[in-house]
Amino acid sequence: MKNCRWEPSEQQDQIASLDELRQKCPVAQSEMLGHAVLTHSDVRSVIEDHETFSNAAGSHLSVPNGMDPPEHGIFREVIEPYFKADRLRDFEPTCRQIAQGIISRITPNTALDVVSKIAKPFALHIQSAFLGWPESLTGTLGEWLEANQQAIVNNDRATLKQKADEFEALIHQQLDVRRQSGSAKDDNTCRLMHETVTVNGETRRLHEEEVVSILRNWTAGEVGTIAAAIGSIFYFFAQNPDIADKLRNNQLNVDDAIDEILRIDPPLISNRRRAVKDTEISGCPVKQGEKVTVLWASANRDESVFGKANTFNPEQNKAHNLLYGRGIHVCPGAPLARMELRIFVQELLEHFNQFELVNSPIRANYPSGGFINLSVRLT
Ligand code: HEM
Repeated sequence: MKNCRWEPSEQQDQIASLDELRQKCPVAQSEMLGHAVLTHSDVRSVIEDHETFSNAAGSHLSVPNGMDPPEHGIFREVIEPYFKADRLRDFEPTCRQIAQGIISRITPNTALDVVSKIAKPFALHIQSAFLGWPESLTGTLGEWLEANQQAIVNNDRATLKQKADEFEALIHQQLDVRRQSGSAKDDNTCRLMHETVTVNGETRRLHEEEVVSILRNWTAGEVGTIAAAIGSIFYFFAQNPDIADKLRNNQLNVDDAIDEILRIDPPLISNRRRAVKDTEISGCPVKQGEKVTVLWASANRDESVFGKANTFNPEQNKAHNLLYGRGIHVCPGAPLARMELRIFVQELLEHFNQFELVNSPIRANYPSGGFINLSVRLT
């Protein structure tokens, strides 16, 4: 087995770099990532074996992402109803209003940075609205996300700690507002505050830090992924006008097409695991306690499963697409993400016919997906 190493760096196009690395080895070694798992079959074998690869990989409480069974199932049951069809149907008009508001402000025939002017504002507004948070908070939340993202990229632990405290204070403020107004508010944040769990035979309300963790994941965690997805969709339409036309003319299933665009250009790069016993991945020994990183951005472009990674073929690739994961941690928010992206794409294609790249886009650095800058002219 060839022993390759890989450390994410600011200079590289991480998607291209992972494509190249996958040709050399199925698992690379990395100081930052531990065992970096690259192929579709190995990523599946890790995420579908939660008894060997634990999600309790970090030091912070992370509900339910950082949990293993049986605890994981208890908390997963609490959050799943938030993404059921009836709840999403109620949220759909708000979602469309936000998409229309942002798209109607785009000036045609003028270059604009999709990332800062469209993708991030859309993701911030939509996640805030999903939680029932005031629109006035999106500015603060946006600045926080920007600074936090920079600290992640720089691996700046002191700033990360400061940002975590600031975020917690922001969430506590939202919880306090709801406590003071009694039952006057009826939104997802309020609902979460009243959820109960049964742990070790005892039924209790969610602890405050559990509510904070869930809300942190739905905002700090997901705004970046949704924003990255919007950027990837613009980039794809600029390069594939024929597919944008087919979507506009209802010749393709929108959800399947978006899933396939995001298979080709992944908004979420990786997730972590930790081995709970000695094992191996594709012949590479993994010791108990060692870090393992599953690279969705590589597995979803694995040519042994998808042929040419950039070939758009939703029908053929749908069954193998790992965009929303697999196994017990499969994304519970997928129905919400799909609805948000579908509405955005429908509104965008109704307003604009052409997407023209103005200059070379700059890709985000690991661990972020998507772009830092993507300048596009729309007509
Ligand atoms: C395009 C957008 C999104 C993508 C590509 C995505 C992708 C994923 C993936 C691949 C996983 C599995 C992680 C793992 O196995 O470690 C996951 C988990 C998760 N996602 Fe998403 N996600 C998206 C949007 C959302 C949204 C909007 C929410 C909620 C508001 C959400 C909530 C979660 C949660 C709570 C988990 C952890 C589930 C668990 O551990 O059981 N996601 N997501």
